Amino acid sequence: MNPIEISLEEFKSLCEQFLAIASDYLKEMDSRSIPATGSGAEIDRLFRAELPETGLAHEALRTFSDLVQHSRAQNGRFFGYVLGSGEAAGAATDLLCSVLNQNVTAWRSSPAAVTIEKTVVSWLAKIVSSREFRGVLCGGGSAANLMGLAMAREKKVPANKTGIPNGPGFAVYASTEVHMSIPKAIALLGIGRDNLRLIPVDNSFRMIPSQLEQAMLRDTDRGVVPIAVVASAGTVNTGAIDPLAEIAAIAAKFGAWFHIDGAYGALGAIAVPHKFSGIDCADSISLDPHKWLYQSIDCGCLLYRDASAAKRAFSYSGDYVRALNNDPVESFTFFDETIELSRRFRALKLWFSLRYHGLAAFRKSIENDLQHAQRLGSSIEETPELQLMAPIELSAVCFRYVGGIHNENELNHLNSEILRRIVERGNVYLSNATLQSRFCLRACVVNHRTTNSDIDRVVAEVLAVAKRIG
Ligand SMILES: Cc1ncc(COP(=O)(O)O)c(C=O)c1O
Repeated sequence: MNPIEISLEEFKSLCEQFLAIASDYLKEMDSRSIPATGSGAEIDRLFRAELPETGLAHEALRTFSDLVQHSRAQNGRFFGYVLGSGEAAGAATDLLCSVLNQNVTAWRSSPAAVTIEKTVVSWLAKIVSSREFRGVLCGGGSAANLMGLAMAREKKVPANKTGIPNGPGFAVYASTEVHMSIPKAIALLGIGRDNLRLIPVDNSFRMIPSQLEQAMLRDTDRGVVPIAVVASAGTVNTGAIDPLAEIAAIAAKFGAWFHIDGAYGALGAIAVPHKFSGIDCADSISLDPHKWLYQSIDCGCLLYRDASAAKRAFSYSGDYVRALNNDPVESFTFFDETIELSRRFRALKLWFSLRYHGLAAFRKSIENDLQHAQRLGSSIEETPELQLMAPIELSAVCFRYVGGIHNENELNHLNSEILRRIVERGNVYLSNATLQSRFCLRACVVNHRTTNSDIDRVVAEVLAVAKRIG
């Protein structure tokens, strides 16, 4: 027997042990302190072992209790970043995904897996009311944004063959609240970060369309090519939704690609579709089922209207992947429409999770998140020591402790110290946002485990910590 082959009994025994570890994690999650504990030195001591020449067999499982101990507990009081809560039914498919080891390159490689991914993508397109869109799953919103902008650049300034052409230049437009993955994508695509025009936002942190139009006019008058306009459907800081329909019209007027970064918010359309009107005008939309469909991480999606734009950006067929069949279903290739060739069967967890629970359950869960955010907002407004810092459009709540202090520097330092201590105490987990140079505490509720009493802990915790700082 090959030295890395294991018997079926061994496989089952390993699976049972992993199942027990995973179930214990879920069972104990609520009673645990949220942040991952341990100093750098301690974690290094536990996990920076030498590579063994001889296998440890079941001994290798010993470190797993340390691994769980030093992993964050994502319970109902976790409100950091925009991090989905890891729905367990979907997660349960991960083992099967790896054992089946389907390579979701093309229909002929994995007919069932490819069909399931296409099905799931069509469900996602329907959810954001863009039925005619097609798409691909990917690692997350950053990858989806990169691919959307790669399509835009290749359509507006074809550069794949000869490189970026010389000329008066190019520009991409987004609001000052845009997520960092957009400037990163622009740099990677050779467009140049300086060519990202940051358009001012209004008091609700939404892009101001007239400012966009003026910026595009200024550029086009100088011969600059407008490659793309990026709107946010849920900004990372406050969840603001840019005026999509108005922005779409301006992008169209200047012949620019219209990309919507919906990584945080767009799946909110399951519960509040009216907030996203105009989303179907996009050329491409990024979505993140690992955020607001609660899937475990590594489940992003890019939707796009025009398959030929995707092919123009990503199709480089070598002889080893030549299609041997002209059947419209069986000749389908994902690798011609995305960055990756070998691709994990990401659709499996999402497909199962959606079918297991049904769309109504997800709608209810998103409604709960929206209500929880409003509940937190109300209790902040009822607390004189606290100040709400932005309208609550979706489920992100930005606020700060003021407690009678008026000096902005002092407030920034105080709130940053409050956040540090809150995270250290581990009862609730918040992150931060800086709005108009003001340091804010930020709770983002994309968490199917959260209850009203979890929400009510937030204000109590902030006040308790502020009192200690004195
Ligand atoms: C608006 C927005 N866009 C893009 C991203 C990046 O998504 P990911 O972390 O899945 O790469 C995020 C992440 O929070 C986001 O909030």
